[in-house]
Amino acid sequence: MLNFEDDVPMLGLRGVSTAFMPGGAGHLLAQTVGQSLPVESFQRVKLEDKRVINGKADVNQLVPFKYKWAWEKYLAGCANHWMPQEINMQRDIELWKNPNGLTADERMLIKRNLGFFVTADSLAANNIVLGTYRHITAPECRQYLLRQAFEEAIHTHAYQYIVESLGLDEGEIFNAYREVAAIRDKDQFLMPFIDTLTDPAFRTGTPVADQQLLRSLIVFACIMEGLFFYVGFVQILALGRQNKMTGAAEQYQYILRDESMHCSFGIDLINTIKLENPRLWTPTFRAEIQELVKKGVELEYRYAEDTMPRGVLGLNAPMFKEYLRFIANRRCQQIGIEALYPGAENPFPWMSEMIDLKKERNFFETRVIEYQSGGALDWD
Ligand SMILES: [Fe+2]
Ligand SMILES: [Fe+2]
Repeated sequence: MLNFEDDVPMLGLRGVSTAFMPGGAGHLLAQTVGQSLPVESFQRVKLEDKRVINGKADVNQLVPFKYKWAWEKYLAGCANHWMPQEINMQRDIELWKNPNGLTADERMLIKRNLGFFVTADSLAANNIVLGTYRHITAPECRQYLLRQAFEEAIHTHAYQYIVESLGLDEGEIFNAYREVAAIRDKDQFLMPFIDTLTDPAFRTGTPVADQQLLRSLIVFACIMEGLFFYVGFVQILALGRQNKMTGAAEQYQYILRDESMHCSFGIDLINTIKLENPRLWTPTFRAEIQELVKKGVELEYRYAEDTMPRGVLGLNAPMFKEYLRFIANRRCQQIGIEALYPGAENPFPWMSEMIDLKKERNFFETRVIEYQSGGALDWD
């Protein structure tokens, strides 16, 4: 067992693996315990060697900071910490059990909604832990990704907690991504992009591979977290605004806040990679991204139709067409691509208020523990 009072510098010379060496986890096993380290590993980390991808600096060394935006998002994520079981589900349970509490359409909407989310955040977690993290060489960004991965676990926990509290059929809800076409189609759209990053043989470092990475990051941040979650968020938050399923709605509110931060981090990550590697951002690549965003809008709209075959809660699928176009425009603009649907407007302006949630504001009057311990949030 390692004794931390041992002479660490000696270990550094003779015993330490090169797991921290540049090139990400793909190079982790290039050298193992007992081999000597390359000469450059003894040199201090220089800011100019740090890069978001294909960096040459030791990924184990957080400072000197170069990507402060990532570190600040990590701090903000920690300040927003919450846990599902803090939220009282009693009113939701009573409403669900009351035969007159909800309409059949509202019940179906809740089940289809959870049917997507109960597995979506596991996909997100896999994508981060088994994929993205390995290919990012900026330790500040890796630090945020670790926080984000834990938040994805909390989200999966939250959806499971709602399913369990309401006594829903777990087999039906957790298998929806296999059995409900509108959900399966969204996940199948995402899979190839996740598979690219999680493939153990995938390496960055060539223009083709770096574009593959960038494409997957854009699909994940702008289409999955930035678009595919939004029909579902609006639906449950609309229920909460009508004083129904307030415990579930409060959890979705916290999840929405976390996801807005994930999306915003992803966009900063994408834009920094673009800045550091301008040759990746070709007209062909941009056109391809636009096509992917269009496809994402179609798939999410189909999901809206499937979950709301008739109007429910004052919402209907066509309202979501405009909303999805509005969000898609924003995502495109955020990464420097021309808006796809000029003039699209936001039919749900109250959603912005939800995203700007501070914990002291409690829309649905359920209990929450305050983790925020100073420092104002300031993010878009
Ligand atoms: Fe999530
Ligand atoms: Fe996320």
